[in-house]
Amino acid sequence: MDCNNNTLFIGKVLKEFEQLDSTNLYAQSIINESKPIEGTVICAKSQVAGRGQMGNRWLSEAEKNITLSVILYPSFLNIEKQFWLNKCIALGIFDFVSNHFPNHTYIKWPNDIYIKNKKVGGILIQNNLKGFQIKHSIIGIGINVNQQKFPKALPNPTSFFIEEGKTFDISTLQQSLFYTLEKRYLQLRNEDLNNLHTDYLKSLYNYQQEAIFQYPKGNCFKGRIIGISEIGKLQIAHGKEIEEFGIKEIIQ
Ligand code: BTN
Repeated sequence: MDCNNNTLFIGKVLKEFEQLDSTNLYAQSIINESKPIEGTVICAKSQVAGRGQMGNRWLSEAEKNITLSVILYPSFLNIEKQFWLNKCIALGIFDFVSNHFPNHTYIKWPNDIYIKNKKVGGILIQNNLKGFQIKHSIIGIGINVNQQKFPKALPNPTSFFIEEGKTFDISTLQQSLFYTLEKRYLQLRNEDLNNLHTDYLKSLYNYQQEAIFQYPKGNCFKGRIIGISEIGKLQIAHGKEIEEFGIKEIIQ
């Protein structure tokens, strides 16, 4: 299994807290004051104001799950290539989860990690841009590990415990996550883009499968995901058309 703590930089500086509002917010505050070294990780046993995508909250029971942020400086990436960072981070988490749940793990475009049909993890990437480059990036990662019950408001959550029926040691898991993340980040830094793209598509939930999609206004259609564009739009074939969608333009 791809699992050791032999990383070069991710997690070498690890700032651990009992409780924070949000690890992403804390990461931002230390970036405002200093220049933390690349790969610095902020993790919290509990977050009282965890942030999710699209302004949602991230709800995670204290001490049960992975809730952390990684600080990266992908200044080698031009802003029009931002989605490559999403791809490599999603793949790093995918590799980690699929080490435990091979054949059942997926990346649900753009940033969710699924086991079978349920969400086990999410990513919130906050990029700070300067000119045409990414100055720094805060990679917020939440993965449900030992949590057994979830608020009813969450549509389809799962956890390692629910899938496997046993508890896991969070800090051991974190170390193996750092390893898989770093491997994918180095792949991006080395411009191994073809393999990143192919692996992302291979891991994609519902890739090349007939599925029902919904426009934000509510009407549904049957289509098939056939790819991801260079800027990260979801390409769906339906009828005789291929349509491209941004994050808020389609519900899967
Ligand atoms: C999502 O799927 O909505 C993204 C969830 C991201 C949650 C993580 S938990 C650690 C980090 N700190 C936050 O406040 N959010 C991210």
